[in-house]
Amino acid sequence: MTGITITGFNHIAYPISTREHTLPLYRDILGLAVIPSMVDGPAVIWTQMESGTMIHPIESSEPGKLGTFHLAFGVESVSDAITSLEASGIEISSSGERYDGQEFAFVNDPDGNRLEFASANDRKPHGRVCDEWGVTTNGDGPSSRHQKADAPIRVLSAEHVGVPITVRKRAITFYRDVVGLKIIPSMVETEEITWFGLRNGSMLHLVETEKGDAHTYHGGFVVEDFDGAINTIQQLDAKNIRIGDRLDGRRALHFDDPDGNHVELVSNNPARSGHRVADEWGYTKDI
Ligand SMILES: [Fe+2]
Ligand SMILES: [Fe+2]
Repeated sequence: MTGITITGFNHIAYPISTREHTLPLYRDILGLAVIPSMVDGPAVIWTQMESGTMIHPIESSEPGKLGTFHLAFGVESVSDAITSLEASGIEISSSGERYDGQEFAFVNDPDGNRLEFASANDRKPHGRVCDEWGVTTNGDGPSSRHQKADAPIRVLSAEHVGVPITVRKRAITFYRDVVGLKIIPSMVETEEITWFGLRNGSMLHLVETEKGDAHTYHGGFVVEDFDGAINTIQQLDAKNIRIGDRLDGRRALHFDDPDGNHVELVSNNPARSGHRVADEWGYTKDI
């Protein structure tokens, strides 16, 4: 039992080249709302799905190179999370408060993946406004929100996030015993993936890879109309399109965004469970 109460995902950050190149996919195709950023760095774009979870595309600081990804868990209390992480010997690399009163703290997992623990958004008035490209200024107007009503795909929520790891037991010990996530049975055949359930029903998937391959990092987003999403993405000619069926009856569509980031869309049907069991290291079998 740790002192960290994770409520779900606050946001999933994707390193991108430029907003002109990549934001149209997230805003105009996946239908995410562009909302004012609550940080000073102009490279960070804040977008939001129906559930409130956000995707933050972050522009590269060096032309031709992408930055690093990170993942933000939502927590009830950032100060309790910091106390608990420090008690486990985890170093907090930075922490603070954003314009809207959201508190945050960053750590690295044992593979060097950046993780953030963040409290809820909009804890106080901020007066920030943005244009449809997410360029944000301190303004007087009401909070601005730019969303395409006729986007072909509607992303509803974050179903899971996949994070690359190299050494399974070391990574599980961190996510299970320090962060306090609960292992649940994996609903795919491959042994390399450990599934964790979050309190709001979303999941973290740790994916064993040789070198912690950055392309493995991805968000899995529930869409309203899965077959329609397949059509749309196929018409886009996106790279690395792959469609798969999971053992829980959900379907998944994988593809790359314009910068080569791995994106997954998941069908909206209820997941079947109860026919698989996992051991303490996430190895799963049918019962
Ligand atoms: Fe973040
Ligand atoms: Fe996935």
